[in-house]
Amino acid sequence: MSSYEARFKVWRGDEQGGDLRDFAVEVNEGEVVLDIVHRIQATQAPDLAVRWNCKAGKCGSCSAEINGRPRLMCMTRMSVFDPAETVTITPLRAFPVVRDLVTDVGFNYQKAREVPAFVPPAGLGPGEYRMFQEDVDRSQEFRKCIECFLCQDTCHVVRDHEENKRAFAGPRFLMRVAELDMHPLDEAAETGLDRGRAAQDEHGLGYCNITKCCTEVCPEGIKITDNALIPLKERAVDRKYDPLVWLGSKIGRR
Ligand code: SF4
Ligand code: F3S
Ligand code: FES
Repeated sequence: MSSYEARFKVWRGDEQGGDLRDFAVEVNEGEVVLDIVHRIQATQAPDLAVRWNCKAGKCGSCSAEINGRPRLMCMTRMSVFDPAETVTITPLRAFPVVRDLVTDVGFNYQKAREVPAFVPPAGLGPGEYRMFQEDVDRSQEFRKCIECFLCQDTCHVVRDHEENKRAFAGPRFLMRVAELDMHPLDEAAETGLDRGRAAQDEHGLGYCNITKCCTEVCPEGIKITDNALIPLKERAVDRKYDPLVWLGSKIGRR
């Protein structure tokens, strides 16, 4: 099919409220949802607000919900929809709307600030770090994150529970804690920081009941639950119930 006219519903409004507006838009072969939003801007609604940057799935800006599923608009091909179907585009539900498809994702930046940074080994300079390849590979997977916040948007712990946001960092930032906790050169423990315990006590790891919805929507294919959250839970529990750790904490308290 080369070109056809499709029906769209696009949410328009601001923090006061809004509703879905109908648009009939031309779709051409090879186009993605972001192309359609741009065509709506160009031909029917020049003031439609949308955030985007790279149109290549790398900047993480164009996150929205398409037919209720969190997705990148620039990586969602129109060919995945039936031409007769109405495609509905709404802003990310877990974050406050600024206008139309643009949300305020400041929650995520706040959570990022709450994770203490990597503590480099004392006495080693840049270029002197040595790690096993498997440790490098593990970090590399987590570092593919483009901070689109689709995982943060989809996680049920905060999606419909604003009250949980204070205590729960969300999958993206629990993954960051896991990355640092598993980093062989991180010396946070030398400074008295137990990242596993902090994951439980300060970043809300216990709220995660491993539903894996975060993993399902990640456009980078990061196995957030299996490779970050579950290992982080195991490490935190192991440490808590390790008799040597228990004994050390008792002796340390005297
Ligand atoms: Fe997006 Fe995946 Fe990063 Fe979550 S982990 S912010 S879904 S790239
Ligand atoms: Fe939420 Fe992912 Fe855990 S969706 S409950 S953080 S597995
Ligand atoms: Fe950059 Fe979609 S515009 S990820």
